[in-house]
Amino acid sequence: MEPLRSLILAASGSERIRRLVSTTPGARNVVARFVAGQGVEDARSAVSELAATGRYVTLDHLGENAGESGSVDAATRAYVELLDALRAGGLTGRAEVSIKLSALGARADEALALDAAARICAAAHECGTTVTIDMEEHDSVDRTLRVLRELRATWPSVGAVLQSALRRTEADAEALAGEGSRVRLCKGAYAAPPDVAFAKASEVDLSYIRCANVLLAGGGYPMFATHDPRLIAVLGERARWYGRRSGTHEYQMLYGVRPDEQVRLAAEGETVRVYVPFGEQWYGYLMRRLAERPANTAFFLRALVSR
Ligand code: FDA
Repeated sequence: MEPLRSLILAASGSERIRRLVSTTPGARNVVARFVAGQGVEDARSAVSELAATGRYVTLDHLGENAGESGSVDAATRAYVELLDALRAGGLTGRAEVSIKLSALGARADEALALDAAARICAAAHECGTTVTIDMEEHDSVDRTLRVLRELRATWPSVGAVLQSALRRTEADAEALAGEGSRVRLCKGAYAAPPDVAFAKASEVDLSYIRCANVLLAGGGYPMFATHDPRLIAVLGERARWYGRRSGTHEYQMLYGVRPDEQVRLAAEGETVRVYVPFGEQWYGYLMRRLAERPANTAFFLRALVSR
């Protein structure tokens, strides 16, 4: 399936394929499975729908990749508008937002990104909710953690993300496991060289468990982002071992991925949060999700040809 994966990743840059996906009814259904829609109203209705089955949400706005201060301002305003809509819909108890510092211009200007993130955190705080900062490429980890520290000085509930694929992450988990901290642990979605990241999936999984132990032993609120049934079973066991009651940690999954498992965990009394992407720039996100999992790719290609 590796050639298929490369093909899908290559297609993620193609405007022609994006148009084809937007206009093919079967493919539009695949988009709708992974992306909540393009506008704030779509995001709001996804939150209501997920809340109806006891799930919580973190919303990711898929906007232009930033660099220019104009687009940073637009991305910031999109989040503020979203937060206002959540408040108006009485949904801020159910939803927080996830932001990417690269979309706020961090690659070119860290201070600009910090300023934009601070505006979003202030708006979230005012609405009674909070923000989690997604983790991106390995060479942005230090910058992201610096910005996180600055934001936490004013808004201690701002969440961090750690990637178990990185060799440094166990130490980062130790540093972030303190009282009141919120840390999302994921495997990591970005390629990294072998001196920085574990190469084998089994090493990434073992690292995940070591980091989870560190977070569960600490005084913070761990957020376990994975669809992996084996990890979810181990995490449940480790949480019990550390005497963690439900509500003192949570599970997170992506919108459209293992929805039955999300509902099952929520029905068992676990806190389950769904990462819901929405926005005009849905195409790149969709292609990354498809490339991640060959079964999804085949499903998508079938939908594309069954016009
Ligand atoms: P993995 O992909 O290894 O799959 C393990 C098993 O899980 C599979 O064998 C299968 O059983 C099951 N599974 C996985 N995908 C499935 C699917 N589509 N359908 C059915 N079963 C499936 N990354 C990052 O670098 N920075 C970030 O900030 C975030 N944030 C984030 C938030 C949330 C809520 C989630 C769920 C994930 C992220 N990620 C992320 C992405 C993450 O790092 C990772 O790439 C994906 O979650 C896939 O990893 P899994 O843990 O699901 O395991």
